[in-house]
Amino acid sequence: ENEEQKKMFHAMDLAARFYHHLLLHEKHGRIARQYLEKRQVHIETIKEFQIGFAPPSDRDLLLRFLTRRQFSVDLLERIGLVITRTSSFQNTSFDRFRGRIIFPIHDSQGRVIAFGGRSLGSQEPRYLNSPESPLFYKGNHLFNLHRARKSVRKKQQAIIFEGYMDVIAAWQAGIHTCLATLGTALTEQQAKVIRRNTESVILCYDADRAGLSAAERGSEVLKRVDCTVKIAQMPEKMDPDDYIRRYGASQFQEEVLAGAQTLTAFKLEMLKKNYHLQDEDDRIKYLTAAIDFISELPLIIEQDHYLRRIADEFQMPLDVLKAEQRRMKRRKK
Ligand code: CTP
Ligand code: MN
Ligand code: MN
Ligand code: MN
Ligand code: MN
Repeated sequence: ENEEQKKMFHAMDLAARFYHHLLLHEKHGRIARQYLEKRQVHIETIKEFQIGFAPPSDRDLLLRFLTRRQFSVDLLERIGLVITRTSSFQNTSFDRFRGRIIFPIHDSQGRVIAFGGRSLGSQEPRYLNSPESPLFYKGNHLFNLHRARKSVRKKQQAIIFEGYMDVIAAWQAGIHTCLATLGTALTEQQAKVIRRNTESVILCYDADRAGLSAAERGSEVLKRVDCTVKIAQMPEKMDPDDYIRRYGASQFQEEVLAGAQTLTAFKLEMLKKNYHLQDEDDRIKYLTAAIDFISELPLIIEQDHYLRRIADEFQMPLDVLKAEQRRMKRRKK
């Protein structure tokens, strides 16, 4: 860590304090506090996460605050706090974040390295993150790692969410093993960081298409670094933040986390949703599709395991399912 980097960390820390102060401050922060109140983020949580607010009105509030403290515009630009627009007449510099709730993002040592900024309403982009910088390479970091690490090690469990708000809601509800990626798919580097702290990981992504494919890819990446991965299933169109707000933490623990299952079991559940199981024809169609899917699994013991599950679930002799599997294989040749 050289002098330059030290300065950058210092500027980031001051920026986080500044935004946090503005949020708590009566005049500037009122709409932001109201927004967070509506989302049921408590004041203690706002303080714990040092959540801040960048007011919409002033285009260079942070810039002035930091240049007065002898930070150069150039440095502020390089850590993504300030944007400079160049024209033939003049350069204008202004704050990157305006009219946004600010979530500080820390490195594993707890130093602020970036910010996530959420718009107060539905204005797009809904989330605006700091760009990559000498302090921040997003594929290397996980949101909340420095706070969660101790619990992750102790419980030997990490829960990965998609969003900052999911982590914050879970933390507020007493679940302290939660992390999030920073608006990208889980990288191998992040997987390695997780593996250094625990073997066992639960992916808890939004119940939509994006969430499903993120779970599939994330679980591949984690398995490559020898993690054991379970997928927690959310009710349709919900994310963990919605769920916890609506049903509370203990139901989240018991229904969602405790019910986490392997990727294969999760995919079978997803497959099932395409069929009306009360309908006899559809039951047969699902069973056929499920056997077909199971036949593609790499290990025979895995195939056996899931065939047994289906046999139990549908009260069918395992032999019959296996006979059907053989018949389907012969027909494919
Ligand atoms: N994200 C992002 N840029 C976007 C949208 C999302 O970086 N334009 C990232 C953010 O880290 C966000 C996460 O992806 O937290 C998950 O996105 P999404 O599920 O759409 O957002 P939520 O976290 O559910 O946001 P909110 O509840 O505040 O609407
Ligand atoms: Mn409270
Ligand atoms: Mn989503
Ligand atoms: Mn979400
Ligand atoms: Mn959400």
